[in-house]
Amino acid sequence: MNNKVDLLFERHSLRRYRQEPVDPQDIQTILQAGMSAPSAHNSQPWEFLVVQDKERLSACAGIRKFWGMLSDAPMAILVLANLEGYKGSAREFFLQDCSAAAENMLLAATALGYGGVWLGIYPLEEPQQQLREIFQIPEAVLPVVMLPIGRPETPPEVKRRSTPEKIHYELY
Ligand SMILES: Cc1cc2nc3c(=O)[nH]c(=O)nc-3n(C[C@H](O)[C@H](O)[C@H](O)COP(=O)(O)O)c2cc1C
Repeated sequence: MNNKVDLLFERHSLRRYRQEPVDPQDIQTILQAGMSAPSAHNSQPWEFLVVQDKERLSACAGIRKFWGMLSDAPMAILVLANLEGYKGSAREFFLQDCSAAAENMLLAATALGYGGVWLGIYPLEEPQQQLREIFQIPEAVLPVVMLPIGRPETPPEVKRRSTPEKIHYELY
């Protein structure tokens, strides 16, 4: 990688994975990247649930129509928000905090030669409830995003998405 910013352009949603486990050291690095995200008042309301059990991954794959890739993935990281004890804006911004952590992890996975895809959970009630049952997550803890992660068959292409009409300067 010549330029550090290329990492952002290399990330893309990966939905098919090579059948090989993710290196435990790499899992730790990816989690560390999640925990290095910014959060409101530095509140860090996130928790992470690492899933490698095939049966649990397959159970998750059936929760939503577009989650089928979970049954193929060697692992997934479930991003949770535990808001116990959080008040005011440290509580209200949990979705932004957890989203920042999720994106950091996708970028770290890309940097390490893996790929993943963002599966949005919160605020969908039914998937949250099903995930609580599968993983014995307490009612007060919110499942926010799930990230299946694995090695791609081919190296990622660098993509640059340019939509200049979405950019405004000074005034809308
Ligand atoms: C909130 C959110 C929810 C998403 N949910 C799904 C999903 O359920 N299934 C899926 O395959 N991709 C999902 N994606 C991935 C998007 O489809 C993907 O990011 C988008 O098509 C752009 O492609 P790219 O990630 O390769 O740039 C989701 C992304 C976000 C941000």
